[in-house]
Amino acid sequence: MRTFQQISALRAYLRNLRQDKKTIGFVPTMGALHAGHLSLVQRSKGDCDITVLSLFVNPAQFAPTEDLSKYPRELNRDMQLTSNADVDAVFLPEIEEMYPSGFQTWVGVTELSKPLEGEHRPTHYQGVATIVTKLLNIVQPDIAYFGQKDYQQFLVVERMVRDLNIPSAIQMVATVREADGLAMSSRNVYLSPEERTAATLLNRLIGIASERVQQGEPNPLTLKQDLERVMSQEPLAELDYVALVHPDTLQPVTGLQEEATLLTLAIKIGKTRLIDNALLVPEGIPLPRPRISKPI
Ligand code: PAF
Repeated sequence: MRTFQQISALRAYLRNLRQDKKTIGFVPTMGALHAGHLSLVQRSKGDCDITVLSLFVNPAQFAPTEDLSKYPRELNRDMQLTSNADVDAVFLPEIEEMYPSGFQTWVGVTELSKPLEGEHRPTHYQGVATIVTKLLNIVQPDIAYFGQKDYQQFLVVERMVRDLNIPSAIQMVATVREADGLAMSSRNVYLSPEERTAATLLNRLIGIASERVQQGEPNPLTLKQDLERVMSQEPLAELDYVALVHPDTLQPVTGLQEEATLLTLAIKIGKTRLIDNALLVPEGIPLPRPRISKPI
């Protein structure tokens, strides 16, 4: 496995591979790798000749009040995991390599960044869109892989790639869950044992909502109120939002039986903020196909 800290060295390595007609898959991460990241790597290795993974805790996507300084950093473990997973190249730049002095260009995806996470983290997606644009420009992958757990992030990146004519396909990969249903997240390590048990609330809410939609519940407001009631019974959980939205536009839906609806959830358990989501598919409506955007 090759490791690169300099953009120029990574570019030279990839240029040679491209000349040899190798296809390149890219998995951007902030490290503290878990089985969710490794499923993106596996997918890339199945689709592409070469897999590049980046490890970079991007300061621009954290607000001053958020967990940048305590975000888990486990470089040795991450290097072991990427090597075991047979990643071809790891890119681990220093902050100055990505944001040199004088940096002043930001990418914003105006509408898709506004609702849901955008309401609670107003500067987050500008930070994500900017770093992902930079990483895609550096790696120039054929396909870049993103987890469904950050569904809104996927939509923001998909739109940005289309709008800016970035010639990479963007592939969504299903959320990987612990045995009790908690979505894998680098932030799960913050949870105490009691909080970890309480966090299964998210997957329980997804189960309740999926069943209700399959049984014919037509009214998003009724379902939302019922989910909020269940949530209020968990003393360790504090609600950020429960939303039932269209999976392409993230706008609230008016019915639940016409097509698939995206249920998206954000809660705080103690000091840890957790998100999750699921597509709720009514009986008789085909499951939406996994999303991949084609380069234009
Ligand atoms: O999903 C993440 O880990 C980050 O938002 C990403 C895409 C690596 C950008 O920093």
